[in-house]
This record gives sequence, C-alpha cells and structure tokens, in this order.
Amino acid sequence: MTRPNLSWVVWVLAVSLLPLARITAGSILGAAVNIELLDQDRSQKVRAHYSLVSSLPCPALDKLCDEGNCIDQLISSPVIGVLPSPGWCLHQWQKTIPKNHTSTFQLGSESAVSLYSRADLSVRLDTNHVNQPPYVALLPPVRLQAACPQEILVNVMDLDGDEIRCRYKKTDLGEFLQLNEETCTLLYEGGANLGQYSVEIMVEDFPLSVKNQIQSEAKPFSTVSVHLLITVENGAGCSVVPEFTGVSPVGGAVIHVLPFEEVHVNITVDSRVQSVSEMAVIGPPGLFISPMEIGPNFQSSVTLSWVRGPNQFTHLLSICFAANTQSLQSNVRCIWLQQTQTDPLPPGTELKCKERELQMSLVLPITFLKNLHFSDLQLNDPSCPVFYNSTHVTATFPLTGCGTKRVHLGSELLYTNTLRSINPNSTISRVATLILPLACRIPGQQAKGPAFKISIPEEVKTFGAVSFWLEFHLPGEGPLAKETRLPRLRGSPPVRMARDLRATGKMEMLDLHVFSNCSLARAELMVGQCVESETEDFTNPRPLLNQGCASGNGTLEILTSTSTVRIFRLYLGSLGIKGDTMYVECVVHLCVTTKQTNRCSDPCTVAPGSAIVDSILTHSYTVRSGPVPLIKVTETSTSTANPTQTANPVAQPSTTQVTTASASRSLDTGAFWIIAVSLLALMLLP
Ligand SMILES: *[C@@H]1O[C@H](CO)[C@@H](O)[C@H](O)[C@H]1NC(C)=O
Ligand SMILES: *[C@@H]1O[C@H](CO)[C@@H](O)[C@H](O)[C@H]1NC(C)=O
Ligand SMILES: *[C@@H]1O[C@H](CO)[C@@H](O)[C@H](O)[C@H]1NC(C)=O
Ligand SMILES: *[C@@H]1O[C@H](CO)[C@@H](O)[C@H](O)[C@H]1NC(C)=O
Ligand SMILES: *[C@@H]1O[C@H](CO)[C@@H](O)[C@H](O)[C@H]1NC(C)=O
Ligand SMILES: *[C@@H]1O[C@H](CO)[C@@H](O)[C@H](O)[C@H]1NC(C)=O
Repeated sequence: MTRPNLSWVVWVLAVSLLPLARITAGSILGAAVNIELLDQDRSQKVRAHYSLVSSLPCPALDKLCDEGNCIDQLISSPVIGVLPSPGWCLHQWQKTIPKNHTSTFQLGSESAVSLYSRADLSVRLDTNHVNQPPYVALLPPVRLQAACPQEILVNVMDLDGDEIRCRYKKTDLGEFLQLNEETCTLLYEGGANLGQYSVEIMVEDFPLSVKNQIQSEAKPFSTVSVHLLITVENGAGCSVVPEFTGVSPVGGAVIHVLPFEEVHVNITVDSRVQSVSEMAVIGPPGLFISPMEIGPNFQSSVTLSWVRGPNQFTHLLSICFAANTQSLQSNVRCIWLQQTQTDPLPPGTELKCKERELQMSLVLPITFLKNLHFSDLQLNDPSCPVFYNSTHVTATFPLTGCGTKRVHLGSELLYTNTLRSINPNSTISRVATLILPLACRIPGQQAKGPAFKISIPEEVKTFGAVSFWLEFHLPGEGPLAKETRLPRLRGSPPVRMARDLRATGKMEMLDLHVFSNCSLARAELMVGQCVESETEDFTNPRPLLNQGCASGNGTLEILTSTSTVRIFRLYLGSLGIKGDTMYVECVVHLCVTTKQTNRCSDPCTVAPGSAIVDSILTHSYTVRSGPVPLIKVTETSTSTANPTQTANPVAQPSTTQVTTASASRSLDTGAFWIIAVSLLALMLLP
C-alpha cells in the first residue's frame, strides 16, 4: 500500500473549501446522446441512444429515465470504474424521441444535465438521402492535474463524411479551457482551482462546402451533444502521465464488424511514475474487459473483446479508454466499431444446427446471385468442402472444425463461421463478393454440456494450465502455519464435545487445505462441495462442506490472505467421523471477475442460481485425497524415544493428490446435447 502523500492531503482540504464539493453519491460524471433515424423514415421521431456515467452507488434506470419508454441495454452488470472516488458506473439505454428534443437528467440535488439533439429528416440535395447525424463518443470520467496543461479530444464521426464542428453549450471552466471547434479538442491551459467542472458540447454536421465559410453563416444538418464532468486534481504535480504503447489501437481507428464476429483489442500502457490502478473503459453493451495484466517494463495491459450479436445499438459504437493511476490519467483514446450492414437473406435459405452431430449445415439458394464464381466459396478453413449445383450452395461442417469459432455472447454460446467468395483476381474482375456469416446460438442454461468439452483451450488461455490439490495439516503446521496457528475463523468453533477424543487417540482438529497453482493475480479459488468417506470408493459420503459454506457445526473456513488457497478447519469430533482414516473429495473451480474492481461472488452469501455474469469461471474439477490418517502419532509408542514428536506431531497425516485441469473431469457423464437457434446474415458486396 502506498501512503497518501502530502499533496493528496492538501487536495482533500482544498476541495472541502470549494463550492463544487467532492463527488457525492448520485452525481452525473458524463452523458452523451446519439440519434439514428427510425427505419420508417417518414415518422417525425428518431431513436436516441443514451450513455450516462454516474457515481456509485449505481442508480436504477428509472432514476435516470423518469419519462418512461426507456429500453435498458444492459447485458450483464454495468461497466464500473474506481476513479475518481467513490467510483462510477455506466448506463446505456435507448428511447424514441421527437426529432428535436432536450433530455434532462438529475440525480438527487445535483444540478441537472441536459442533452440536446436534433435530426433533419428531409432528403439532402447533394446525396439524395436523408442526412445521418454525427456520432459523439462518451469519455470515461476525465481527470486533470490542476497545474498541467492538457488536451482532451472529443471523438466524433460522421458516416456521410460531413464536416463536423463542436461548440460549447456551457462550461464551468471559463478561461481555463479552450475549444477548437474544428477538431473538437478541448485545451486545458492549467491553473484552475481543484474541483469538478461540467462542460457541455454540441456536435453538429455541415456540408463539406462550409469549410471555408464563416461559421455563423452555416446551418447544421443535425445536432447531438455530450456532457463531460472534468475533475481537476492535485496529486503528482506535472508528472509524465501513463502513455499507450504500440500495440494499442490509434485514436479514431475504425473496426468493421460483421454479424457474429468477435473483435479483440489489446491495450498496453506504459506508466513509470505510478502503477496503473485501472483501465477505465466506456464501450458498447456486452464489452468484455479482461483482467489487467502487469507486464515487465512498467507496462500494464488489458484486452477488450466484443461479439456482435443481434442488436439495436447504433451502427457506430465507440470504445473510449484511459489508464488511471492514483493521481494521474493518461490521454483518453477512442476507437469506433462499425457494424457492417447486411442484406436480407433469399427465401429458402436454411441453416441448421445439428445438436447430436455437433454440426452446422447450410442450404443457400443461388438463383439470386449473379456474377458469383461458386467455385471460389470457402469457409474459414478453405480445405472444408462447399458444394453447389445449378440451384443451391450447400455446406455441412462440424462445430469443432473447419475454422468454426466459439465465442460467448452474454450468457449464450455462439459457434460462428463465414462463407465467403475469395476472388483471386479481384482487382480486375467485376465479379460479386459474397460474405455470409453463419452462427449457431446456444442459450446459456443449455450450454453446459458441450461447454465442458469444448472450452478447455479458452480456459487454459485465461487461467493457465492449473492444478488443484488437497493437503491436510495439523493446526499451526504446514506451508500456511502462520495463518492456521491463530486462525481468523469464519464463524465460531463448535462447543467442545463431551467425549474427549484425546482418550481415543484421535485428532480433534485437522486443517484441510485446498490449493491451486494458478498464477493469475486476481483468480480466486472457489470450493464447492466437499465430502468425506471412510472408504476409498466413496460409497457412503458425508458432507464436510456445502457450496463452500460450512454445513453443520464441524467445519469452519479459516480466512487467509491468499486467494488461490482455501483452508477449512475440520472439528473431527463434531463431524462425527468414525474410523481411523478418511478420504476427502472436493469440487473446485477458479473465478476471475471481468472488472478488476469486482470480487467473485461469495458462495456463502449469494443465493445459488443467481448468475455470475461478470465473472469467468473455470469448469468444476473434482479433486480427491488419498487416505488421511486420523490417529495422532502419539506419545504412547514413541514419546520417550522421540520427545519432539510428542510436542509436535509432524505432518504425518498430510496427503496430496495433484489433479491437472484437463485430466480430471468428473462431470462428463451424460451425453452432451445442444438446443440451438441458428442465425444467418447475408452481405453482398457488388
Ligand atoms: C426545437 O424545438 C424547440 C421547442 O420545442 C423550438 O423552440 C425550436 O425552434 C426547435 N428548433 C428547431 C431547429 O426546430
Ligand atoms: C492480443 O494479445 C494476445 C495475447 O497477449 C495475442 O494473442 C493477440 O494476438 C493480440 N491481439 C491483437 C489484435 O493484437
Ligand atoms: C441442388 O441441391 C439442393 C440441395 O442439396 C437440392 O435440393 C436440389 O434439388 C439440387 N438441384 C439440382 C438441380 O440438382
Ligand atoms: C486469375 O488470373 C490468372 C492469370 O493472371 C488466370 O490464369 C486465372 O484463370 C484467373 N482466375 C479467375 C478466377 O479469373
Ligand atoms: C501447475 O502444475 C501443473 C502440474 O504440476 C503444471 O503442469 C502447470 O504448468 C502448473 N501451472 C502453473 C501456472 O504453474
Ligand atoms: C450443531 O450443534 C448443536 C449443539 O451442539 C446441535 O444441537 C445441532 O444439531 C448441530 N447441528 C448440526 C447440523 O450438526
């Protein structure tokens, strides 16, 4: 832990003197509205897509949308961040609004935030189409160092290629902030008081011809707006802020995304002054943010992934990210995901997901396809056959081969492949190109069967090749003796049994250690059920633990500081274990949350069945011990001969069983099955 340094203390003092107080629960830290025309373009309404960042605790959507008709776009738990304190969360929703509209949001007694939008629904003379409004990207909460000049780029984009201009609607930062209207860049000149300042910017698109005109004369086609809350801090002076390195995408990059395609973006940041505590990311619903990896040379990195499922999001989606250290923030970078538009499928097209065979099969009528060389059609793996006759193209391929990819979409499992025509002489030919993404969707609850079989490579990718094993040690002994000598117990130990076990020569207590050698920093070992049996074949198992929670009086968890080890104290008398030997079997898995600020849900406090959507779990593995002797190595036989043993019976009852992740799957019994919904989308490039 780093001690708060002097300047941080000063910041707290200074802030408490300011009228703009520290963030209280319920502030709005940023908001943006983007609009798109509804398909039936004669209506006077448009679809608005709102993104709003508020401080924690995360408000419910109805606190933000009190006029009703808001469609929440939350797929899993909201994206959250830690800085500025007390942290923030992102809400995204859509709503149909009039073409000229101001939405106002207010949380508690804070001042309201309003977002203006206006669309022009008439047909443009220059393009013969209705104008498409510009898009603006919402940034993660912006943090500036009071004394240090800095640029903040507001990312904007226009699909018509229009000229975009930004202008202030309102700014609290007065002379400290300048806006370059043509590049949409805010320049903070330094010198503002500490505190939080709101800035509202309208983004407008103009015909290209306006470039050289005096702007007051020009009339925009349409308007969207963004509201930023800028936190001016005083932490580390004008230190070098964290910087993105080579592999990170450049700001403003556009990635085209086909239906069902999975996009990966690696972000690496170099931070020499302070270590990066979080990567703050604002992105589309369903964006997966990997745990942060700390690499060598002051580098930290995360991978963002996103799968395009069927959605009603905007055609252009922004992802903006910034690296936060305790008192510094990198520049904010934004990239765009452009959802490629598709054509409707010809009637008679059929894609089947065959559950038993684990196959996908496609029948595509081709009479509508002119100028296509059917011999050039390929799946992801060009060696897999695609057949055609004069009327149809057919292909049948396994979900586990032919380049089929397996991705997660929320709680669903998707198998995707793409049929495309590869034209070797594309530059000179006028031959059409076909791109046909193919996907099988398998709903979450039903994905369990095949998921077990097929997901091991991904699991190994996330967690490494992990082993689990059990060890038994007497209290105060073994590799974690320090934690078990004076243990912090979860719950209170049982009342001493009337019958004194010492007389029987049996142990009173034994500590069960469950280990994994996972080296991922944030992985947590979760122990589900543990049972004990007198016999090696577990014919008569008795519970020691149920879902990682003590079941009964005889087992208590010892809290440790290591997340990849769990220790349970077994009170053998209270457990009523007979015999001199026992065998133990536990079901274990690893968990890591998708945001570094979360913890995996505690199985003892969370109702089973409440889905842990924002965590990645390994499969459950069953780990067995060998025979565990329960008789003390006692004084009766050896006390005089070996006094040290009397005082401290050595770790005789310790027994180990190592089980590698891929080897010991106990749950693979039933035949696996899928109920699949097949999905297709077609795209023809003329
Ligand atoms: C938008 O609506 C407001 C009030 O509803 C009106 O005053 C304003 O003139 C309208 N602006 C445009 C450009 O239509
Ligand atoms: C991202 O990083 C992973 C592992 O570090 C690597 O396998 C992958 O190729 C990278 N992807 C991109 C797009 O750079
Ligand atoms: C072409 O293949 C499809 C699908 O296998 C079949 O239904 C159709 O009858 C075939 N057409 C001809 C002319 O053979
Ligand atoms: C492509 O061009 C090569 C020669 O440049 C020719 O031999 C071949 O037939 C062409 N292929 C197609 C599909 O047009
Ligand atoms: C864990 O142990 C197994 C077996 O000893 C080994 O194969 C694996 O590489 C280890 N994993 C890590 C992350 O150390
Ligand atoms: C727990 O201990 C109490 C008193 O010692 C006993 O009455 C109760 O039945 C025990 N519960 C279980 C589940 O063993």
